[in-house]
Amino acid sequence: MSRHEVAQKLRTHWLGRDLHLLEQVGSTNDEAASRARAGAPHGTVVIADAQSIGRGRQGHQWYSPPGHNLYLSAILRLAMPPNAVPPLTLAAGIATCEVARCLGVPASLKWPNDVLVGGRKLAGILAEMSTRGATTEVVILGVGMNVNSTTFPQDLSRTATSLRIERGGEAMDRADVLALLLFELERWINLFVSEGAPAIVSAWKERTHFLGQRVSVKVEDKVVTGWAMDVDADGALLLGREDGTSLRVLSGEVTLPEGEP
Ligand code: BTN
Repeated sequence: MSRHEVAQKLRTHWLGRDLHLLEQVGSTNDEAASRARAGAPHGTVVIADAQSIGRGRQGHQWYSPPGHNLYLSAILRLAMPPNAVPPLTLAAGIATCEVARCLGVPASLKWPNDVLVGGRKLAGILAEMSTRGATTEVVILGVGMNVNSTTFPQDLSRTATSLRIERGGEAMDRADVLALLLFELERWINLFVSEGAPAIVSAWKERTHFLGQRVSVKVEDKVVTGWAMDVDADGALLLGREDGTSLRVLSGEVTLPEGEP
């Protein structure tokens, strides 16, 4: 995948017009954060062929072998306070889900922003921000999408999938998928900025099978079980407990019962 090839396919206005294609980095989120500190503008995208320490949410690693998948991070300078930023990750999840659906893969969303197919993970989002007082300086929006991987390490072999696997083994052109991903990300980030969180939350709910299910949520070091009742206007999960109380979870890791999508 060359810069020229991607540039020819890109249909965005501002996202990825400043595009850095790198061979191998530790984590594209770290690489983008350091470029942001050095003044890289809004919309800059860093993409790597491989990551040696790809990072997932909650301290997990992100499997990032060379030659197969997409690992990218966007530098976003948004004029909003830090507490308004979280639904941005829902918007990125929707965008990524749309990419899969455009390619004929029936993906859906699991709170907060896992993109799943048949219960297996196709893509994940890791957003990190730096703030100064009540101001958001920069958000680094990282997206990892399994495009052409057909095998995974043993610990992921039952829980991960790729576009290629879901499309019956047909290899995908990564530049095509990247151009589509940047297009959808720009579209949903624009909608979030112009319409705010409610538009994103309702679009998110249209793409999930998750609400109404019994789930366990790891919040810090505690596991809480209950029903995923709703996602509120700020993107927080409302968890119904057996004792009739409810819990509002702003961030955590959700586990579904075995075999659920
Ligand atoms: C998750 O755990 O679901 C989030 C995974 C996010 C992975 C992407 S790959 C590009 C960017 N760089 C990283 O180190 N992580 C994110």
